[in-house]
Amino acid sequence: MLAAALPLLLQLAAAVPSLAIALPLADASRQQDLARAAGDAVNRLAPVVPSHTKAHTLPSLSYAPGVNEPLYIQLTRSLPAILDNAIEITKHSWELGTLTEVLLEVYNPELTPFGFLPSAWNSSAHPNLPLTVVNITAQALSAYDFSGAPGDTADHATLLSSSSPRPLVDGAGSLGDPASLGPAAWITANYADQVRRLNDTGVSGLQSDSAYAWAVGNQLAALHAGPHSDNGTISQRESEFQLWSDMGYMIPPFLAYLGLTTNNATLLGEALRQWSLESSALLDPQANLYRHVHYFDTGFWLTGNGWMLSGLARVLAAIAKSPYAAQFKDEADAAARTAAKVFAALLNSIDDAGLIATYVGATDGAHALTDSTGTTAVVGAYYRFLVLRPDLVKDLKPKADAAFRGVVAKINSDNWLTAVVDPQGTNGFIRNDAANTRSPEGQSLLGALWAARTAAGQ
Ligand SMILES: *[C@@H]1O[C@H](CO)[C@@H](O)[C@H](O)[C@H]1NC(C)=O
Ligand SMILES: *[C@@H]1O[C@H](CO)[C@@H](O)[C@H](O)[C@H]1NC(C)=O
Ligand SMILES: *[C@@H]1O[C@H](CO)[C@@H](O)[C@H](O)[C@H]1NC(C)=O
Ligand SMILES: *[C@@H]1O[C@H](CO)[C@@H](O)[C@H](O)[C@H]1NC(C)=O
Ligand SMILES: *[C@@H]1O[C@H](CO)[C@@H](O)[C@H](O)[C@H]1NC(C)=O
Repeated sequence: MLAAALPLLLQLAAAVPSLAIALPLADASRQQDLARAAGDAVNRLAPVVPSHTKAHTLPSLSYAPGVNEPLYIQLTRSLPAILDNAIEITKHSWELGTLTEVLLEVYNPELTPFGFLPSAWNSSAHPNLPLTVVNITAQALSAYDFSGAPGDTADHATLLSSSSPRPLVDGAGSLGDPASLGPAAWITANYADQVRRLNDTGVSGLQSDSAYAWAVGNQLAALHAGPHSDNGTISQRESEFQLWSDMGYMIPPFLAYLGLTTNNATLLGEALRQWSLESSALLDPQANLYRHVHYFDTGFWLTGNGWMLSGLARVLAAIAKSPYAAQFKDEADAAARTAAKVFAALLNSIDDAGLIATYVGATDGAHALTDSTGTTAVVGAYYRFLVLRPDLVKDLKPKADAAFRGVVAKINSDNWLTAVVDPQGTNGFIRNDAANTRSPEGQSLLGALWAARTAAGQ
C-alpha cells in the first residue's frame, strides 16, 4: 500500500505546489495530515497570523517561492478564510459551479484540467480526497430525484449517453448555469463510493458513484436538448435561444472535463467548438471585448469577459492534457489568439489602482466604477494563459501584476472582497456599495486567481 502510494505522492508533490511536501500517509486522516504539513510549512515561514482572523475550516496553504509579491503571500495566508466565506454565501447554480471548481484548483489541482493526473482519477489509489467538494456537491443534489438511477455500473462513460434530460440543480431558467456544477458532480461520481467506505469523513447522505454519473449524463442530455442556434450554438437560457458571455465558463468547460476524463475527443472538440461559437457571437472585433448579452445589456460587462477567458483556459488546458492536443491544434490556436487580444484590451484599461471598470470603456455613472469581481476573473485567467500560451500574453504581465495587487487590496480585514458588482443584477449588473454587496463568485474567484498565480510560479 505504502510502496504504491509513494510514487503517486511524489507525482502529486510535483503537480501540486500547495502540497509540496510528500509524506507517507495511510488512512482516512491522510488528507488532514497533508494539509497540516503544508500549513506547518507556511507557519514556519510566516509566523504572524492576525488575531482577529476567525477560525477557518479549510486547510492552510503554502506559497510558490518564485512569486516575488508580498500581496501574494498575504493572499496565500488569508485564502482559506476567504473560501470559507465563499462557502457561506454560495447558493445559486453557477455560484456552486464556480466554488467547487475553485476549491479543486486550490486543494486538488490534480483533478482539474490544469494539473490533471490520470493516476489521481483512480480514486481508490488517490491519497488527496476532494472531501469538501464531494460534500458541497452531495448537498446541492440532496433534492435530486435519483429514482431510476442504475445500480453499480463500472463504466461511467456509458451513462453519459443518457436520454433523460434533467439539470443537476435548478437553473432558474438558465440552461447553461447548472452545467457548471457538472465537473464537481462527475468527480463526486468518481469518489462517492470511496468516501462512503471511509468512516469519520464528516460527509453523509451520499448516493452511489453510479447514481451521480447517471445524473451527470442527464445534465449532458439537458444541454443537448435545449435551444440551439442554426450553427449549433447551445443556448444559455432554457425557454429560448439566448447568448450571454457568462456561458463561456458554464458550458464548454463541462464538456471539456468529461472529454478529458473519459478520453473522448468528440466531447473535447464540442467544448472548443461551443466556446468558439459563443466567442464569434459575442465578440466586438473592433473593441476586442465581449458583449454581455446579445440582445439587451450589450455593453462590455467585465465579469462576462472574465467568464469567457476563464472558461477558455479550462478548455485549452483540458485539450493540452489529453491525447488529442495535435488534433485540435489549429482551432485551439485561433481561440487563444482571440483571447490574447481580449486580454490586451482589458489589461490596457486598468486604472491607477490596477482595477478595471464594471463595463469596459464606460466613462461615467455606475458602469464606469471599477469592479473587483470582474478584475479578479480576468487576472486569474491571465495567469493561466501565461502558462498555456506565454508567447501570446507575456508582454502584459506588468499590467496583470498591477491588477493582482489591485484586487488583493480590495479584500477587507474580514476576508470579504469589496467593491463588487451585484451578480444577481437586481438593479443592473453594477456595484451597489451602500447595500454592502457580497459576491459569491467574486469571493470564489480569488481562489482561482491564487491557484493560477501559484501554478505560474511568477
Ligand atoms: C487503482 O488503484 C488500485 C490501488 O492501488 C489498483 O489496485 C488498481 O489496479 C488501480 N486501477 C487502475 C485502473 O489503474
Ligand atoms: C459537510 O457539510 C456539512 C453541512 O454544511 C458540514 O457540517 C460538514 O462539516 C461538512 N463536512 C466536510 C468534511 O466538509
Ligand atoms: C468503518 O466502520 C465499519 C463499521 O464500524 C467498519 O466495519 C469498517 O472497517 C470501518 N472502515 C474503515 C475504513 O475504518
Ligand atoms: C464520446 O461522447 C459522446 C457523447 O457522450 C458519445 O456519444 C460517444 O459515444 C463517446 N465516444 C466514445 C469513443 O466514447
Ligand atoms: C453562430 O450563431 C450565432 C447565433 O445566430 C451567431 O451570432 C454567430 O455569429 C454564429 N457564428 C458562426 C461562426 O457562424
